Order: sequence, then C-alpha cells, then structure tokens
Amino acid sequence: MHKPSSMRDYLISLLIAASLTVFMGFYIFIRRGYFFDAPSTADPLFVPNKVIASVGTVLLAFTFLIGPIVRYFGRFDKWLGYRKEIGIVGGFFIFFHAIISYFFLPLKFPQSKIDLDSITFGAGLIGIFLLISLFIISFKKAIDIIGASRWWFLQRWGLRLVIALTLIHVYTMKWAGWVKWLTKGGGAPTAELANPWLPGLGIMVTLFFTWVVIVRLYESIFLFRDFGFTTKEISMNEPIKARGRRFFLASFWILIILYVLVATRWIGY
Ligand code: HEM
Repeated sequence: MHKPSSMRDYLISLLIAASLTVFMGFYIFIRRGYFFDAPSTADPLFVPNKVIASVGTVLLAFTFLIGPIVRYFGRFDKWLGYRKEIGIVGGFFIFFHAIISYFFLPLKFPQSKIDLDSITFGAGLIGIFLLISLFIISFKKAIDIIGASRWWFLQRWGLRLVIALTLIHVYTMKWAGWVKWLTKGGGAPTAELANPWLPGLGIMVTLFFTWVVIVRLYESIFLFRDFGFTTKEISMNEPIKARGRRFFLASFWILIILYVLVATRWIGY
C-alpha cells in the first residue's frame, strides 16, 4: 500500500543519514588524518566526497534490504514505511557525489580523467539519471497517472538497475586498488594517508553492498524462483520465510567475518 509521505519519515531517514555521515566521516578522518584540511596535493572536498558517496550507497543498499528483512523476520513491518524516504535521501547524497566528483575535484579528478563514455563513469551517469527519474515518479500523483502495478514495476526495476550500475561503477574503478591493498598493504604513511594499514572506506561499504545484492539474488533465484518481470504478487509461506532467515543470518555472519579479516589484515605492520 502506498502511504502519504510524512515529515516524520523524512526526519528519521535524515537522522540515519546524519549518523552514517558522522560515523564514516570519523573513520576516514582517522585513516587519512584530515577532513576538509587536505594537503596541497588533494582537494578540500576529496574526503567529504568519499563520505557522501559512501553514505548514499549504504542508504541505497538499505532500501534494497528492507524488503527481505520485513519478509523474513515479521517484526519489522513498520520499516517498510521508511523505505521510500531512505531511498530519496540516499539518491540526493549520490547526486551531490556526482556533482562534487565532476566539478569540485580538479586536483584528484580533473574532468579530463572522468570520461563519461567509459564503463565506469557511464554506469555512474546512467545511475544518476535513473535515480532522478525514480525521484520524479515517486510522487503520489505519478501513481495515479502511471497506474499502481506499472508504477511498482518501474520502481522495482529502476532501483535494481541503479544497484547493478553502482556495482559496475565501483568495482571497475576500485577493484585493482583493493587487490593491491589486500595483497601488498597500503605502504608507508604519507601526507595524504596517515594510517594506510586501515582499510579504505570503499572496501567496507562495497562488502556490505555486495552482501545485500547476494541476499536479494538468493531470494529471487531460490526462494521466489521469480525475478519480478511480471507484477504478480509473491506470497511467502513459513518454510520459505525460514529458509530466507537462515540464508540471511548465515551470510550475515560471513560478512562479519570478512569485515574482521579485512580490518585486521595489516594491523601491526
Ligand atoms: C548511481 C550513481 C553513483 C553511485 C551509487 C556512486 C557511488 C560511488 C562509490 C560508492 C564510490 C567509492 C568511494 C570510495 O571508494 O571511496 C564512488 C567513487 C567515485 N565516483 Fe561515483 N557514484 C555514482 C555516480 C558517479 C558519477 C556520475 C560520477 C562522475 C561524474 C562519479 C564519480 C566518482 C569518482 C570520481 C569516484 C572516485 C572518488 C575517490 O576515489 O575519491 N560517480 N562512487
């Protein structure tokens, strides 16, 4: 059911975004040794942009994760009410990330280095356009114009595409750097990176994001055996819920173990 969006839901979503911003900002401040006050080789918005991209990406992951949590655990029904607002707040963060990346990082990412025809940045750009389109059709009026079942279809597949494009954007850009850090370490501290033994925020965010995608894929392939191409409602019985819960919890513990392994990879080196 659609509900009229209330101020309260936006406030809660903004509060979640603010908490993530403070937490991630603090982490990256410790890792890098500065926030706005970058050394002369980096832009003042270099670090804030990483935080903004990461918060937005985690919020997008939340919008994708709320569905399975509600379906498997029953107790969290009211979280569904925040899904739309969390997604919209996340979308705004991502939008600002793109603006900052393209216009305000002349030292680290001059426009000559951001080729919008490339897979990496093309995927990001299409992602932004999709997010803007989803925002435009998120207003209640759009549901009346488009029709409820087609509207759900567009929201569902729009978000899925944004998630897939985010995976492409981030993995193609960062994979080589992560493998290098995991296998060789971050090297000696520099003016730009005070604590290279700490993993980059991007790895931690992407681990979570990837876990959410795996939970959703498992659900579509093994629980529903349906990818949602039609608008048919999926009904969940207790055995399916139980399998969903088991996979969710088991994979969550694997995620935690991976976090511990990554976080302690270069401790003491
Ligand atoms: C759906 C759209 C997008 C999402 C979800 C997204 C998300 C992300 C994430 C999670 C990172 C990794 C941050 C890190 O590892 O520190 C990142 C990096 C980056 N993105 Fe995006 N992005 C999107 C669109 C764009 C667009 C349109 C542009 C350029 C016009 C862009 C430019 C960049 C740049 C330059 C970086 C590297 C930043 C750095 O390493 O400091 N992104 N993005």
